[in-house]
Amino acid sequence: MARRNKLQKFSEILSYPNVLENYEYNDIKLVGKDGVEMNMPNQWAAKQFHNEHPITLELACGRGEYTLALAKRYNNRNFIGMDIKGARIWRGAKNALDQGLSNVAFLRSRIEQVEHFFGNEEIDEIWITFPDPFLREVKANRRLTSPPFLARYRKILKKGGIIHLKTDNTMLFEYTLDVLKSEKGIKILVQNDDIYNGELPHPDLDIKTYYEKKHLANKLTIKYVAFSLR
Ligand SMILES: C[S@@+](CC[C@H](N)C(=O)[O-])C[C@H]1O[C@@H](n2cnc3c(N)ncnc32)[C@H](O)[C@@H]1O
Repeated sequence: MARRNKLQKFSEILSYPNVLENYEYNDIKLVGKDGVEMNMPNQWAAKQFHNEHPITLELACGRGEYTLALAKRYNNRNFIGMDIKGARIWRGAKNALDQGLSNVAFLRSRIEQVEHFFGNEEIDEIWITFPDPFLREVKANRRLTSPPFLARYRKILKKGGIIHLKTDNTMLFEYTLDVLKSEKGIKILVQNDDIYNGELPHPDLDIKTYYEKKHLANKLTIKYVAFSLR
């Protein structure tokens, strides 16, 4: 098929069994294959994956490179990539289908709504990979490690579940460390401001996304923090 434009991708997504979408910010309805409305909190195991394996959620997944690479490494876990951009979700979902990865799903929605789509403690682990830093202070609450987002993750993440942040952005990294130190009940497990300078602090940090490759080409250092919300 010739190169698809965005509208073709959006309509193709509707036929994919591995994508759920929310269309209206103020309406928390999720729609799956063929436009069927889906009620998903506490139902991802039964309705999507048909097993009880632990679920890893990748936020700001873009084209889903982390989601797919992790899914290939760990076939005894399930992976959900979440992003608002339909064309990027299309790419990740199509790759997952083409590669026969049944432990992968995508959720197209704003992350501000994440707590509406999962039950309490339904998620085992979260990866946040190269999120937009939102450099201006007035937009600090849109950073995915700001206190309002941590409050959302606290609802859906299992007790002791780990959140991994991988970023090139020094401001976002330092901001995140400040938030983690000032919020109650948070334990920083690993903190590293140049992951490729020495042994990798986590084996799955070797996965490189589209954005990471761009940052490495621009000689930026990659930073990582892992923490748990107690
Ligand atoms: C810089 S890109 C990184 C994508 C991917 N993780 C990578 O490393 O290639 C940031 C992504 O975050 C998504 N994003 C930012 N804020 C979001 C939000 N509030 N809800 C959903 N997606 C968001 C954007 O759509 C974009 O795809």
